Amino acid sequence: MSFDRSVKIAPSILSADFANFGAEIRAIEAQGADWVHVDVMDGHFVPNLTFGPPAVKAFRRHVTTVMDVHLMIAPVDPTIDAYAEAGADILTAHVEAGPHIHRTLQAIRGAGMKAGVALNPGTPAEAVAHLLDLADLVCVMTVNPGFGGQKFIDMTAKVRTLRAMIGDRPVHIEIDGGVDPQTAPLVVRAGADVLVAGSAVFKGGSVDAPQVYGDNIRAIRAAAAA
Ligand code: DX5
Ligand code: ZN
Repeated sequence: MSFDRSVKIAPSILSADFANFGAEIRAIEAQGADWVHVDVMDGHFVPNLTFGPPAVKAFRRHVTTVMDVHLMIAPVDPTIDAYAEAGADILTAHVEAGPHIHRTLQAIRGAGMKAGVALNPGTPAEAVAHLLDLADLVCVMTVNPGFGGQKFIDMTAKVRTLRAMIGDRPVHIEIDGGVDPQTAPLVVRAGADVLVAGSAVFKGGSVDAPQVYGDNIRAIRAAAAA
């Protein structure tokens, strides 16, 4: 995985058919997804439950791009080796998930993955000020994590602050929640380069009508470039 700041679209399989993940992942990649975003929820850190390391390992066999695993769980540290073994390329932990995020990021890199740090909407950019040399990605949540299909919360000021703090460091800014052709240009203009999108990519499509996924991805990409 080489670093660049071009806009990347990362469909979230939280909006896919949960009985058909393999085919859904192949469909979004065939339709132009740059990364595949995998939302892990534990029913404790967030009020929803999705899947854990064995399922993520099964997804890996279908991912040919980048498997971007977003942990919405607490604690994180006891599971890091399992997600490395499952084949995560990027493993993102929330700064709010525990008292030792610095140790967590060290452990993620130590296990051979890229390290991401996520910020809830209520958490200021400054929370990552001392972490930027330990992180490969900062994920700015533009919804309160837990569910797909929520309304975008404007975090463009936070994104601008982060972009200035990051400077020349090879750190991605990822936006997660409510990204669609209306909101994408706001965050890209502010400095984001990775756009997670669940409902806006999967809406109206299916593995039998995958070209809709392609149309949806292209619409976000075009809006982001405008
Ligand atoms: C929210 C998840 C997101 C979610 C985005 O807790 O982290 O990745 O799937 O879904 P949309 O794009 O529908 O807001
Ligand atoms: Zn996510």
